[in-house]
Amino acid sequence: MFNSRIKIKALLETAPLGTEVTIMGWVRTFRNNQFIALNDGSTNQNIQVVASLGMLNEDTLKRITTGASLKIRGEVVESPGKGQQIELKANSIEILGDSDAEKYPLQPKKHSLEFLREIAHLRFRTNTFGAVFRVRHALAFAVHKFFNDKGFVYLHTPIVTSSDAEGAGEMFRVTTLPMEGAPKKEDGSIDFEQDFFGRSTNLTVSGQLEGELGAMGFGDIYTFGPTFRAENSNTTRHLAEFWMIEPEMAFHDLEDNMNLAEEFIKYIIDYAIENNREDLEFLDQRLADEEKQKPQAERSELGLLEKLQFVLNNQFERITYTEAIDILINSPAYKKKKFKYDVSWGIDMQSEHERYLVEKHFKKPVIVTNYPKDIKAFYMRQNDDGKTVAAMDILAPGIGEIVGGSQREERYDLLTKRMEEMHIPTKEMWWYLDTRRFGSVPHAGFGLGFERMVLFVTGMTNIRDVIPFARTPKNCEF
Ligand code: 4AD
Ligand code: MG
Repeated sequence: MFNSRIKIKALLETAPLGTEVTIMGWVRTFRNNQFIALNDGSTNQNIQVVASLGMLNEDTLKRITTGASLKIRGEVVESPGKGQQIELKANSIEILGDSDAEKYPLQPKKHSLEFLREIAHLRFRTNTFGAVFRVRHALAFAVHKFFNDKGFVYLHTPIVTSSDAEGAGEMFRVTTLPMEGAPKKEDGSIDFEQDFFGRSTNLTVSGQLEGELGAMGFGDIYTFGPTFRAENSNTTRHLAEFWMIEPEMAFHDLEDNMNLAEEFIKYIIDYAIENNREDLEFLDQRLADEEKQKPQAERSELGLLEKLQFVLNNQFERITYTEAIDILINSPAYKKKKFKYDVSWGIDMQSEHERYLVEKHFKKPVIVTNYPKDIKAFYMRQNDDGKTVAAMDILAPGIGEIVGGSQREERYDLLTKRMEEMHIPTKEMWWYLDTRRFGSVPHAGFGLGFERMVLFVTGMTNIRDVIPFARTPKNCEF
């Protein structure tokens, strides 16, 4: 059997001294024709393999290079060397795949994150990305565990849709029509009736609308899937393809929604700390090293693990949009004209404003509620003041908006009126409106941008470094 191997993580944890085991992995370094540091991705720790002098012939020795893949059988022994408790005394070494040392891009030295982005197909073999993507996995697993334990149904909402859930017009079109000579209607516009689905379709920007349909039968559902936005934002916080978690709950109002979102965020952070401490300690150290390069004034007050612990131990601040604007207008930053964008009631807060609130003013996550209706989506529940909607955004230190959500407008007349005002096609959305006609209930939900959450937990600073293969404007490699 080929796969009777033990993973290095398990080997280091169980340390079965005196037994013979088989391991497989990739060479990180090879010293003195004798010491191989082997890694298999199960942990950042390498196992040291010792090949006794004279055991290997000249040819094999030459082929043990950084990046080569090996199958090794050997005896687990106590390590006399520093830095590890056990090592493997090799009995046999088989080369599974050669790696030309001259050409292998990942040399055993520190590479910049920018360079590693260009070789994203190999970066999983580095300590930083090993840690980042194992933490990403743990967070994803925790998402399912959290909702499953609460009795939510995981609903797979469609990727191809014919509606724009957010009404923001930032969609990637899906079509099989020819680029040239596409069939036209009499008025000159493209005849989508001849397209694959018989209508104009796009990649989904959010699973929310279909999620609401599920909530109207199951009570509580969540989605966790890829979403696509053709917004031309080339920032460290935006992807054209990102993963979003969207729970939707019947019989919930805005306050229930905030409570669930806060509990959820704390749960998945706690899960990562409990289950990936080693990787988070590595990332904590990595961040500390990065911070040392910065001038004192720009360094963050808390280390990564301290920051995560702080978030777990403290309540998120809850303020209304109106209060947020007041804080900004009365801030020293505003008075000294430090903001690039002006502040007044009605603005869509820029990231500099959000960051001021969380990083300077409150120094912790903040939930902002009751935004002006004109800057929010059509489905949000209208407040009695006629100006605001029951929206909530969660802002996180270092990230800005991490969650967007709201109580939904469950009243048929108010919803259709708002849709008409905002030029949302009510006729095409008959199925959505039906939920408001047949047994409508107060309900609410939110969307957590998964990569922004991974950024927050790993302490990485560019969203391209927390998704395996980033899709951003003018970039779709791999
Ligand atoms: O605020 P948004 O647009 O809300 C929705 O899509 C709602 N349908 C959610 C709901 O109520 N069910 O997006 C939600 C979150 C944002 O807070 C942000 O974290 C993330 O998705 N997000 C992005 N993440 C990466 N790249 C982008 N381009 C993103 N756009 C939004
Ligand atoms: Mg939003």
